[in-house]
Amino acid sequence: MRKKIVAANWKMNLTLAQGEKLVNELLQAGIALDAHKEVVIAVPFPYLITVKELLKGHKGFYVAAQNVAAEKAGAFTGEVNAEMLHSIHTDYVIIGHSERRELFHESNATLAKKMDLALSHGLKPIFCCGEPLDVRKAETQNAFVAKQLEESLFHLSPDQLKHVVVAYEPIWAIGTGLTASAAQAQDMHAFIRKQVAGRYGEAVANDLTILYGGSVKAANATEIFAGADVDGGLVGGASLVAAEFAAIAKAI
Ligand code: G3P
Repeated sequence: MRKKIVAANWKMNLTLAQGEKLVNELLQAGIALDAHKEVVIAVPFPYLITVKELLKGHKGFYVAAQNVAAEKAGAFTGEVNAEMLHSIHTDYVIIGHSERRELFHESNATLAKKMDLALSHGLKPIFCCGEPLDVRKAETQNAFVAKQLEESLFHLSPDQLKHVVVAYEPIWAIGTGLTASAAQAQDMHAFIRKQVAGRYGEAVANDLTILYGGSVKAANATEIFAGADVDGGLVGGASLVAAEFAAIAKAI
């Protein structure tokens, strides 16, 4: 039985005090988790240790970094590598978010290196993929996402892939309030799972957790998460409000 996950991506928001308050409110919100249902909170690097400590003893809650260096170590001022994240007991790491692809020019090849380093240091990658609006309008989104998977994921072994979560985030739905329809989300998730099955077999594909991200709100979460191949969400804006994010987490 594959895991269901609702992940918060705080992006570059909140002070430490605001983040601590939000986490404590979430921990008191009655979100029922177990071995197959997780909440992951992706926080800015400086907050990882504090949030990890706050989550200690709370079953099903995990912390994530929002990025990781594509290099092992060395003269890369300002970067944070996988060994560092592992040394502070980081559970997950978001890799390939569209904002990093666009604003920091991260290529599929660079992301493949990040995947390798994250996995080799015991981190669980949340690999983001998804198409821009012009690709969706041209109806070539499947080929676009297939290329992202091929160039950044499909060099991995079946055993490595078992530690990977995929997040489909149509770029045109991120932060826009324009959510993909439940059918659009399910179609792409089914396509991603089929691509993985074609490369690794049905068993590995069926175990893969695939999240949807892009204007997920409490009002639309249940409908989106009802998709047979939708295993939860990666939530941006709505994750900054405890009641909203708790309601989304309760929808998986
Ligand atoms: O990583 C999740 C994020 O890209 C989605 O943002 O604000 O549309 O939920 P938002």
